[in-house]
Amino acid sequence: MNLFDVYPINDITIVKAKGSYVWDDKGEQYLDLYGGHAVISIGHTHSHWVKRIEEQLEKIAFYSNSVKIPLQKELSDKLGRISGKEDYQLFLCNSGAEANENALKLASFHNGRKKIIAFSKSFHGRTSLAVAATDNKNYVAPVNETDNVIFLPLNDQDALVECFEKKGKEISSVIIEGIQGVGGINVADDSFLKKIRSLCDKYGAVYIADSVQCGYGRSGKFFSHDFAGVNADIYSMAKGMGNGFPVAGIIIAPHIKPKHFMLGTTFGGNHLACAAALAVLEVIEEEKLMGNAVMVGKYLRDQLDQITELKNVRGRGLMIGFDVPADLKELKKNLLWNQKIFTGESKPNVIRLLPSLALKKRDAEQFIDSIKEEIEKVTEKVQG
Ligand SMILES: Cc1ncc(COP(=O)(O)O)c(C=O)c1O
Repeated sequence: MNLFDVYPINDITIVKAKGSYVWDDKGEQYLDLYGGHAVISIGHTHSHWVKRIEEQLEKIAFYSNSVKIPLQKELSDKLGRISGKEDYQLFLCNSGAEANENALKLASFHNGRKKIIAFSKSFHGRTSLAVAATDNKNYVAPVNETDNVIFLPLNDQDALVECFEKKGKEISSVIIEGIQGVGGINVADDSFLKKIRSLCDKYGAVYIADSVQCGYGRSGKFFSHDFAGVNADIYSMAKGMGNGFPVAGIIIAPHIKPKHFMLGTTFGGNHLACAAALAVLEVIEEEKLMGNAVMVGKYLRDQLDQITELKNVRGRGLMIGFDVPADLKELKKNLLWNQKIFTGESKPNVIRLLPSLALKKRDAEQFIDSIKEEIEKVTEKVQG
């Protein structure tokens, strides 16, 4: 049987990983500034994470949500404390799309409304409502098309106000990434997030902070929405939450009340997933990784800002993007094949850095040296 060919892949087979490094089957070492798509939060195969999962595996890996799973409570308590959202409620699931799907559905259960506001260049996942709220026609199948999603330009307060004035009583939720990932590292303005908060309060809509990519400490704060000093009603989380173990969830403000069976999942919140997620939070705290994200992120931003060929360096913490001009369009490939460095991208011309939050300064320095070298090679060629 063939694999269903939906991913354009690099011809590399990774067989080993540690910290911010991975190795291929030929023994070649790569620096990983892509983090397997923003997933590796505490570093590949972190010893505490491995131990926590192994120990749990010896006890019990899975039982359904029909019995008590104390690890879930342990996780929600720790998550509440570290995120500063102690009075929120946790619902666990398996992926970012599922988290957003549940968030949008819960909002609709809560206020009985149908319309969703989403933003240009948003990405919220591949499942039905999540993909309907995603601003990319290529991902939306005819069956996902709906009039219930209204797309507005990001950071356009006037358009937002106008939409609420016209349709306020129909709006169930507003879903927004604090920093757009797939869309190309576009930061939502603090004032825009504040406006969303006040309009949701005024009209009874639910503010959903998609924190799948920009959350879990990556921005230097636990949720990037925290920069605006606002509390969303629901935060969705995945990616970094398990450092590669599939685990996701939403945290829900106390005024949104649960009812039996309104949400559910077979695998969500299983013992093994909770152990992985707990290990991640323990390491984030113990190793002060949010502080590291701020420090190494700032170093990278400052250095990248000085490279004149790269435009519009942006982001927060260790979620960084920059525009690459047309004559350097091979830069990402050259970094991979010549310098053995994985980076992320956003079509058409953005390089995205989404490394582990434990990225060391010396690795960041290596990256800066490498990118300068690759840029010089191209500019020398053009001049020569
Ligand atoms: C902001 C955002 N939301 C949702 C998702 C979907 O997550 P998953 O692929 O785990 O379903 C992604 C994945 O890239 C994302 O970046």
